Formats: sequence, structure tokens, C-alpha cells
Amino acid sequence: MKNQLLVLAIIIIVGPLSFSQITGTAHDFSGQGWGTTEICQPCHTPHNADASIADAPLWNHETTTTVFTLYTSSTIDATVGQPDASSKLCLSCHDGTVALENFGGTTTGTNFISTGDLGTTLTDDHPISFTYNTALATADGGLFDPATGTTALGGTIANDLLIGDKLQCSSCHDVHNEYNNTSLLKIDNDASALCLTCHDK
Ligand code: HEC
Ligand code: HEC
Ligand code: HEC
Ligand code: HEC
Repeated sequence: MKNQLLVLAIIIIVGPLSFSQITGTAHDFSGQGWGTTEICQPCHTPHNADASIADAPLWNHETTTTVFTLYTSSTIDATVGQPDASSKLCLSCHDGTVALENFGGTTTGTNFISTGDLGTTLTDDHPISFTYNTALATADGGLFDPATGTTALGGTIANDLLIGDKLQCSSCHDVHNEYNNTSLLKIDNDASALCLTCHDK
């Protein structure tokens, strides 16, 4: 009886965690017939990685060379730059210019992300690759201070959602599905909870 209870307890504890994985998500390419049965390999390699992009962890995928059209508006206070760091890695598949199976030195792939994805024009997407700090929050007036504002993940906006002090794709998404939310979100956006983490509206 004791043992059965222990097993039950382990199932209850381990069960939900085992779903929060990359396996079976949109980023699991192990069953694609691209010459790999591995999950990490389309994006990472333990050796001979491309170290040319800052903040690229052992990167194995061909990277985009697109010059993007950036988000602009009359009310934005941030200075939005060309996608950099990890956002550039995302866009190396999500801008549709680099074949998905172009990794490990392959440059002749033929499978591209659908044209309905982000593309090379980011004017219709939430701005990324800009500094979000106390000064920006003060200038804007409608943002929480990232140094003191907290998130549902338990820390400050700066610690939980910013990379360096920048807002990137990975501010809102977790590429490895760590949090097991729809659209690989870090914070579920029911009742716009993700948006309201940063925007004081
Ligand atoms: C679809 C591409 C993709 C796949 C597949 C992928 N990763 Fe990543 N990984 C990234 C990107 C992009 C980053 C950097 C941005 C970030 O951390 O969000 C990253 C960051 C990391 C990091 C450093 C930061 C962190 O989160 O700890 C580690 C470690 C890592 N990945 C391990 C793995 C392992 C292990 C696998 C396979 C089980 C894997 N990744 C599969 C894209 C991928
Ligand atoms: C190796 C190519 C590749 C890389 C690198 C990559 N993705 Fe993806 N991603 C895909 C593909 C293919 C899909 C599935 C098709 C689609 O949704 O457009 C996808 C789907 C997604 C989805 C939708 C998931 C869903 O369940 O609806 C999100 C969100 C996403 N990616 C975000 C990111 C972010 C953020 C990064 C970088 C941190 C990233 N991706 C890096 C190829 C990639
Ligand atoms: C400010 C938060 C935020 C940022 C930054 C962000 N996303 Fe998203 N993304 C979302 C939300 C929220 C959704 C879900 C949209 C929905 O369900 O209507 C989403 C959905 C997606 C999807 C699923 C398809 C779609 O259009 O609904 C993909 C792919 C994606 N994002 C990729 C990216 C990539 C790549 C970047 C960086 C270039 C990025 N996102 C930056 C919040 C963000
Ligand atoms: C990680 C923090 C963060 C999250 C999460 C976030 N935003 Fe933002 N968002 C910002 C910052 C910072 C700016 C830049 C504001 C500025 O400079 O005026 C911005 C800009 C915007 C803008 C453009 C404002 C303008 O003046 O043109 C809109 C609209 C917006 N966000 C809506 C959303 C929505 C909707 C969501 C949820 C899907 C969301 N944001 C999630 C931080 C965030």
C-alpha cells in the first residue's frame, strides 16, 4: 500500500512536468526525414557551431541575412533596431528566406516556413530587439518598470522576460516549450495576462 501510494505520488509529481517538453511540438523536427532523427540538431551542435552571432548558443542552423523592414509608429518611444541575438535565430526560419533543413552546413534545402508566417516585413509584428529599461518605462508612462515590475513566473520583468536588457522573441516565447502554453508562450495570454505583465493598461 505504501509503495502504491509512493508510485501514485511520483506519477502526480512527474506527470505534468513530462508534457512541458519540446518533443512533439512545432519545433520537434526529428520525424521530418531531413537526415536526422535528433531533436536538437536542426538548431544546435556540440561542436563546430556558428559563433558569429552574439548570444547564439552552439548554433547549427544557417542564419538569415535579411535586412528587415522594422515596426514604426508615431507613439513608440523605444529605438527599434534590426533583429539581433536570439531573435535573429528565430527569424532564420521564421522570415521564410532560409530553408528549415539548412543546418549542419547544408545550404540546399527546399522546405520553407509558410508565407503566412512573420516574413521579412516586421511592421505588423510586436517590436523586438530594443532596450526596455526604467528610462523607457518613464518616457512611455504606460509600461511597468522592468527592474521592479513582477511577472507570473515569480521574478522581475527584467529577470524573467528580458535578454540582457532587451525585448526579443524569447521575451514572450519559449522555443523549447518549457512552460507548456499554447503558441509556446512563456506566460499564458488568457485575459491578455502576457500583455498586461509589461503594459500598465
Ligand atoms: C527550433 C530550434 C531549436 C531547437 C530544436 C532546440 N533549441 Fe535550444 N535554443 C534555441 C534558441 C533560438 C535558443 C536561444 C534563445 C533562447 O534561449 O530562448 C536556444 C537556447 C538553448 C540553450 C541555452 C539557453 C537555455 O535555454 O538554457 C540550451 C542549453 C539549449 N537551447 C538546449 C537545447 C536542447 C538540449 C535541445 C534539444 C532537446 C534544443 N535546445 C532544441 C533553439 C532551439
Ligand atoms: C529550425 C527552424 C526554426 C527555428 C530556428 C525557430 N522556429 Fe519556430 N517554428 C518553426 C516551424 C517550422 C514552425 C511550425 C510552422 C509555423 O508555425 O509557422 C514553428 C512554430 C513556431 C511557433 C508556433 C507554435 C505553435 O504551437 O503554434 C512559435 C510561437 C515559434 N515557432 C516561435 C519561435 C521562436 C520564438 C524562435 C526563436 C527563439 C523560433 N520559433 C525558432 C521553425 C523554427
Ligand atoms: C510581445 C510578445 C511577443 C513577441 C515579442 C513575439 N511574439 Fe510571437 N506571439 C505572441 C502571442 C501572444 C502569440 C499568440 C497569438 C494568438 O494566439 O493570437 C504569438 C504567436 C506566434 C506564432 C504563431 C503563429 C501566429 O502568428 O499566431 C509564431 C510563429 C510567433 N509568434 C513567432 C514569433 C517570433 C519569431 C517572434 C520574434 C520575431 C515573436 N513571435 C515575438 C507574442 C509575441
Ligand atoms: C516583455 C514586455 C512586453 C510584453 C509581454 C508585451 N509588450 Fe508590448 N511593448 C513593450 C514595450 C517595452 C514596447 C515599446 C513601447 C514604446 O517604446 O512606446 C511595446 C510596444 C507595444 C505596442 C506599440 C506601441 C506604440 O506606441 O506603437 C503595442 C501596440 C503593444 N506593445 C501591444 C502589446 C500586446 C497586445 C501584447 C500582448 C500580446 C504586448 N504588447 C506584450 C513591452 C511588452
